[in-house]
Amino acid sequence: MSEREPEPKKRLSVRKKADAIKPFRCKNLIAVIEDPADIANIGTVIRNVNALGVEKAYVVDPRKALPEDWQDMRERRALSKSSVSAVKWTFVRRFDSTEECLAHLEKNRFVSIVTSPHVKGKTNVYLHEGDYTAYAKLAVWFGNEKRGISELAVERSEMCVAVPMFGMIESLNLGTCSGIVLYEVTKQRRAYQSQYRRRGQKGKRAEPLPTVMPRAGEDG
Ligand SMILES: C[S@@+](CC[C@H](N)C(=O)[O-])C[C@H]1O[C@@H](n2cnc3c(N)ncnc32)[C@H](O)[C@@H]1O
Repeated sequence: MSEREPEPKKRLSVRKKADAIKPFRCKNLIAVIEDPADIANIGTVIRNVNALGVEKAYVVDPRKALPEDWQDMRERRALSKSSVSAVKWTFVRRFDSTEECLAHLEKNRFVSIVTSPHVKGKTNVYLHEGDYTAYAKLAVWFGNEKRGISELAVERSEMCVAVPMFGMIESLNLGTCSGIVLYEVTKQRRAYQSQYRRRGQKGKRAEPLPTVMPRAGEDG
């Protein structure tokens, strides 16, 4: 067996875990990072995406910081390190521009919502006020570290979500913000998925599925 291959027992437990987390993953939910400058922030967002059960991560990457292919991304050391290997388990796709990413999402009938500490566009909500189950296919956008979210993404989105802030500083760090926002969005969508098989509250399950996974050491 080569040095890099996991031992058979370990491989089995990884597969078991991958199977166990599948029903908890939020279907048709994508996190989009628009033009991130810092690879550490990309890694943190991918880690949050994986940990919170978001289906995919898209990166608008005009600087061409990422390789084209996910397989190559998984082998990129800086990304693997900053995401603590989450990039191996989370599908990541890069786009050259905001327009290209929006066109792809819209073609596949995804609705976008953006995040910003500032009021942007027509509809603005605080994170805890939003209903993130209203759209079957949802893309949640996070903006650049300095410039924030672009006007184009705002124009093509349904609403702008803000995490309420109480300090002297203008904004949260990109990675931190993604964790807070995606926690609320996935919590709501998992609760919905646990009750309904399909959208429009059709196909109600006789017994709701659990919404949290047993932790190591717990029965279940
Ligand atoms: C460091 S912030 C960008 C700050 C930038 N000066 C601006 O005007 O938005 C990076 C990204 O994190 C997200 N973000 C940070 N703080 C936020 C907050 N309080 N509410 C919603 N999103 C926030 C947004 O997606 C933002 O584009």
